[in-house]
Amino acid sequence: MKNYLVTGGAGFIGSNYIHYLMENFEKDINVINLDALTYCGNRSNVSIYEGNNHYCFIQGDICDEKLIKKIFHENDIDYVIHFAAQTHVDRSIASAYEFANTNIIGTLNLLNTAKEAWESSNYNGKRFLYVSTDEVYGELPAEGYFTEDTPLRPRNPYSASKAAGDMMAHAFYETHHLPVVITRCSNNYGPYQNAEKFIMLGTGSM
Ligand SMILES: NC(=O)c1ccc[n+]([C@@H]2O[C@H](COP(=O)([O-])OP(=O)(O)OC[C@H]3O[C@@H](n4cnc5c(N)ncnc54)[C@H](O)[C@@H]3O)[C@@H](O)[C@H]2O)c1
Repeated sequence: MKNYLVTGGAGFIGSNYIHYLMENFEKDINVINLDALTYCGNRSNVSIYEGNNHYCFIQGDICDEKLIKKIFHENDIDYVIHFAAQTHVDRSIASAYEFANTNIIGTLNLLNTAKEAWESSNYNGKRFLYVSTDEVYGELPAEGYFTEDTPLRPRNPYSASKAAGDMMAHAFYETHHLPVVITRCSNNYGPYQNAEKFIMLGTGSM
């Protein structure tokens, strides 16, 4: 039995991921969905699992150190799948503080708690997935493509805060050997997505 802490699991990609986990592995896993239910989070995206012994929803903030420690302490977490973020570029231009708190401090809080909980077992069987974004690379010239070695050049407060979280995750991997995996996907569209960020409505988000 593996215990997953999924952050932001009431949001667009996080809720799709929980559906995937529960549809394919339900009997072998426990999923804890931690989400602050900001305007982007919608508990009904995953409410079909409420009452299921393998699923638990916690409304809370990834910046809340006490809460994260309690979740680790009570649930013997094996995997952290970290989706939770402030995600809309235009909002980050209007005010960046919430983006810095959630995307940098919240990420640091999760990394540090995972390190403290897992280091005595030498991280055996543990994983921390940080869901980053291709926006950390900045803008492509007319020709070409990004690779994993492309330097990070974020161009707005959203992507700067995601790049900071990304680099913090990498730093925990290098410094503490925390088993971190980082993904930097480009834009996704699909079910459970907040209309604000659908392809025709955004000016460049996520
Ligand atoms: N949507 C995309 O196309 C895309 C592309 C690349 C990367 N990403 C990344 O994938 C992740 C998920 O993106 P999404 O589009 O599903 O976003 P979303 O905005 O739909 O979902 C984010 C979720 O995080 C929750 N949240 C926000 N702040 C929180 C906090 N402080 N504590 C706990 N929960 C909090 C929200 O309530 C929401 O449910 C993000 O990290 C984003 O940067 C998304």
